[in-house]
Amino acid sequence: METILVTGAAGFIGSHVCDALLEKNYRVVGVDDFNDYYDPQRKERNIASAVKNKNFTLCREDIRNRSGMEHIFRQHAPAKVVHLAARAGVRASLQDPQLYFSVNVDGTRCLLELSEKYSIKQFIFGSSSSVYGANTKVPFAESDPLTKTLSPYAESKAQAELLCRQFHQKHKLPVVCLRFFTVYGPRGRPDMAPYRFAKAILEGKPIEQFGDGASKRDYTYVGDIVEGILSVFKKEIPFAIINLGNSHPVSLRDFIGAIEKIAGKKAMIKKLPPQPGDVPITFADISLAQKLLGFKPTMSVEQGMKRTVAWLQNGE
Ligand SMILES: NC(=O)c1ccc[n+]([C@@H]2O[C@H](COP(=O)([O-])OP(=O)(O)OC[C@H]3O[C@@H](n4cnc5c(N)ncnc54)[C@H](O)[C@@H]3O)[C@@H](O)[C@H]2O)c1
Repeated sequence: METILVTGAAGFIGSHVCDALLEKNYRVVGVDDFNDYYDPQRKERNIASAVKNKNFTLCREDIRNRSGMEHIFRQHAPAKVVHLAARAGVRASLQDPQLYFSVNVDGTRCLLELSEKYSIKQFIFGSSSSVYGANTKVPFAESDPLTKTLSPYAESKAQAELLCRQFHQKHKLPVVCLRFFTVYGPRGRPDMAPYRFAKAILEGKPIEQFGDGASKRDYTYVGDIVEGILSVFKKEIPFAIINLGNSHPVSLRDFIGAIEKIAGKKAMIKKLPPQPGDVPITFADISLAQKLLGFKPTMSVEQGMKRTVAWLQNGE
């Protein structure tokens, strides 16, 4: 079986990718620096079941450490790379843009260079719907111009995509950039609305709603994202940028309503003005994903949030 290198392995999406790969009997090398953007103990819990698997190796390393990363490439000779390590979070990027460019751009460059040097057969980059910024044309298509980015996070992802394209053009490295749309589910990031809202409603605490509740997000279940990532392995794609989203935007009001129904509790809503960097809608055009990957998201927000709430109720 091939060895797959997964960066950001202890994170929300990365840990699910590792579990799914191990389930399919791949050998997996997971890289994560367990930084404290959110509680590192959460990351330890995310990766706990993978760590018990004999086909899994965990490397506590910073993707920007060139010599440390080269050692991992040399030692484990991965065939493919799933690059998910990043400073994520739009709002935090406004406070510390330097850090976001350092990890998300320079870190990606380091991995691309090593992937070229060690003849990686497929490099998958975890990009983001944030690159569309204030795009008003819906649904968002991969061919839309990226002129309206609203945060350093979005800019760092757009720059990293550009690097991916250059590495493909210069060195023929096969690269697929996947633009994820608002991913949620068990192990969800604690800074994101699905987690914060569900937790607060369950605990009878107030939630902060920015704006009037009409803004829409294309909430996408983590299992569907993992399926989309793994489906790239079955194809031979030299270069592509592909949206992965549910393609069913839900308003904030309806999203809160769905959680209230599942939890059987009313939300205490504290209304606040919209935040800088917020966009009115995200909406994925997934026709390219359907065509190239056979991507077909299966989880409705109601079903997906039911699983998320159950995970929270079981002590996360
Ligand atoms: N969750 C979403 O809705 C979403 C949407 C679009 C794109 N993405 C992208 O998907 C990827 C995974 O996101 P997530 O939500 O799982 O976030 P996450 O923060 O849970 O996971 C990222 C992981 O990367 C690790 N990491 C960060 N910097 C590192 C470094 N320098 N070296 C090694 N490891 C490092 C972190 O410790 C963390 O475990 C990210 O690239 C993110 O930008 C996520």
